[in-house]
Amino acid sequence: MKLSTIINSKEKRVAITPETAAKYIKLGFDVVLPKRVGEPAGFSDSEYESAGAVVRDGEIADVTLYLCVKPFLSENMELSKGSYLIAMLSPFQNEEILKKLHLKGINPCALEKIPRITRAQSMDILSSQANIAGYRAVVEAMSEYCRVIPLMMTAAGTIRPARVLILGAGVAGLQAIATAKRMGARVSAFDVRRAAKEQVESLGATFVDVESDENGETVGGYAREMSEAYKKKQAEKLAEALKKSDIVISTAQIQGKPAPRLITKEMVYSMATGSVIVDMATETGGNCEVSEKDKKVNVNGVTVIGYTDFAGRVAYDSSQLFARNVFNFVSLMLKDGKLKLDTSDEIIQATLIK
Ligand code: NAI
Repeated sequence: MKLSTIINSKEKRVAITPETAAKYIKLGFDVVLPKRVGEPAGFSDSEYESAGAVVRDGEIADVTLYLCVKPFLSENMELSKGSYLIAMLSPFQNEEILKKLHLKGINPCALEKIPRITRAQSMDILSSQANIAGYRAVVEAMSEYCRVIPLMMTAAGTIRPARVLILGAGVAGLQAIATAKRMGARVSAFDVRRAAKEQVESLGATFVDVESDENGETVGGYAREMSEAYKKKQAEKLAEALKKSDIVISTAQIQGKPAPRLITKEMVYSMATGSVIVDMATETGGNCEVSEKDKKVNVNGVTVIGYTDFAGRVAYDSSQLFARNVFNFVSLMLKDGKLKLDTSDEIIQATLIK
């Protein structure tokens, strides 16, 4: 069985690292990779070769398994018939292309559809990437911010610590809180789920409370859309909190729905010149009214960042985690040394394009 990948010049991360290449070879795969595939993430061809992979120029034919992060998809892609394409495939946006590829005898598996259940934790690419992205979003915000972050007491006077507000305390949000705390910021955070309060406080941040009997958590542990009355109270509370914040990182998302709109243009205008907002949810419409996908814009002196590639900006480590997640998923697909789409397994079933 030949295992390979497809280069996408817009994606720095790789789905196979030298570490996982060696593991696939142990499982009986021939790993054949295009030259310089890992360079943008910091992995050299010689590291792959030392792991036992073949690295070469030109077309790689008769591939059984393509492992990618986010391939550039087109119905005219030249993929080997009968092969498996395992990657983040944005199945809602790319439904037509994926169906056409399926008709051509390709088996696409969308990794972002892996359910967030205990058994699938080691395969959960969304969590591993959101974790790193939450860290990187804070680093990016702090490097844009024109003041220092921690409290500084000097002979020339005292500098107060920066005030960082995190909206949405899920995977990315909790990592953003921890990162901002480590840098010495005064951190507060907000989430609609009651369970988030304890997690926020355990990281040493202050929880912004909206007085209400409503709990935004579903039985499955996800967030749900809140009532209009709650949204009104929340907007008032956030308007106050934003006015006093130097850096805001927003990560709020509701599974399968557009991102909740939490930051209005007026709120941005109320912030001090030099403040920074990072809207991590621009891929699903954005939490902030004025953020733009993949752009950094200046709105009335406030820098608003809407990048969608925070994990790719630390491609070495995000690739390591991604590649291990993918390896665990492929191991689940292997039955008696052969790849098989076992539809009775809920994890595999969830990734299939129907
Ligand atoms: P998650 O589902 O673990 O966390 C989202 C949190 O938002 C949950 O705790 C939820 O309760 C909260 N939430 C929902 N509605 C809310 C509301 N109205 N107000 C306050 N909080 C609310 O999601 P995860 O994995 O942390 O990802 C967060 C966002 O970051 C997603 O939109 C994801 O697509 C995005 N992301 C962006 C990246 C980038 O490079 N820009 C990279 C990775 C993830």
